[in-house]
Amino acid sequence: MPRHFLDLNQIPPRDLRAIIDGAKRLKNSPVKEPLLSGKTLAMIFEKPSTRTRFSFDIGMSQLGGYAIVTNQNDMQLGRGEPISDTAKVLSRYVDVIMLRSLYHERLIALAEHATIPVINGLTDKSHPCQIMADILTIEEHRGTITGKKIAWIGDVNNVCVSFIHAAIAFDFTLHIACPVSLQTLSKSYQDHKNIVLTIDITTAATGADVIVTDTWISMGCPDEAAQIQALTPYQVNSAVMNLAKSDVLFLHCLPAVRGQEVTPEVIDGAQSVVWDEAENRLHAQKAILLWCLGKL
Ligand code: CP
Ligand code: NVA
Repeated sequence: MPRHFLDLNQIPPRDLRAIIDGAKRLKNSPVKEPLLSGKTLAMIFEKPSTRTRFSFDIGMSQLGGYAIVTNQNDMQLGRGEPISDTAKVLSRYVDVIMLRSLYHERLIALAEHATIPVINGLTDKSHPCQIMADILTIEEHRGTITGKKIAWIGDVNNVCVSFIHAAIAFDFTLHIACPVSLQTLSKSYQDHKNIVLTIDITTAATGADVIVTDTWISMGCPDEAAQIQALTPYQVNSAVMNLAKSDVLFLHCLPAVRGQEVTPEVIDGAQSVVWDEAENRLHAQKAILLWCLGKL
């Protein structure tokens, strides 16, 4: 059975910890060892990407391997070739596949039919690579994430779902402030001891070690106007940041819309670690690739 990296709630917490520790070692090691020499990663994008695309590509080359980047419209996949057949063919050519998909079900189908590891590079339901980079960033700045209070303010989207999985795996508390109408993806976790679901920003942000948000309009979001209206009271601004601990960190996976989910003085301010967070995609994903290929 290949070691797929599909969702943080499907991977043993001890393995997730090993990936974070491996990412720290890779980042801090002056010697770049070609641990994936001769290995090839195929990347398929059904949605746009800057960070995921570049960081995986550069990560593979730093590890001595090679990446092939494409989108589904340049493949027969875009003309209706089944994902199951695509999985079987690519399994004969490359060593690992990363998929960014419009539909989580496609990722699952790819993994079911591939004989090599498959990595989730974001779907409509989750974004686990992002959260591994976020944990790395928080631990670099504030030590272990276990026991911390993290406040997620805004849309309960794919990134938030992976944060929920991480809260359970790494044992921190995730306080989610979001209008009831947009809480659907988090409902099944609402009774978990690590998850606090609320409509009240003050409850979520007060005393937080970290405040996180994401775009109000995720790729593929059907109703922009209604979504923006519902989320307007959930902007992360200085007043929200002032409710948190004095040394609170601000995280955002990017791309950000300044003036919507976050104000410029927060994202471009002293408490923001978004550039470290973006850099850490590279280090976290190198460790994920090594884990998938049994080298960690
Ligand atoms: N955060 C993130 O995944 O960015 P991209 O969409 O640019 O890959
Ligand atoms: N929630 C965002 C994340 C982008 C990296 C989206 O899905 O568009």
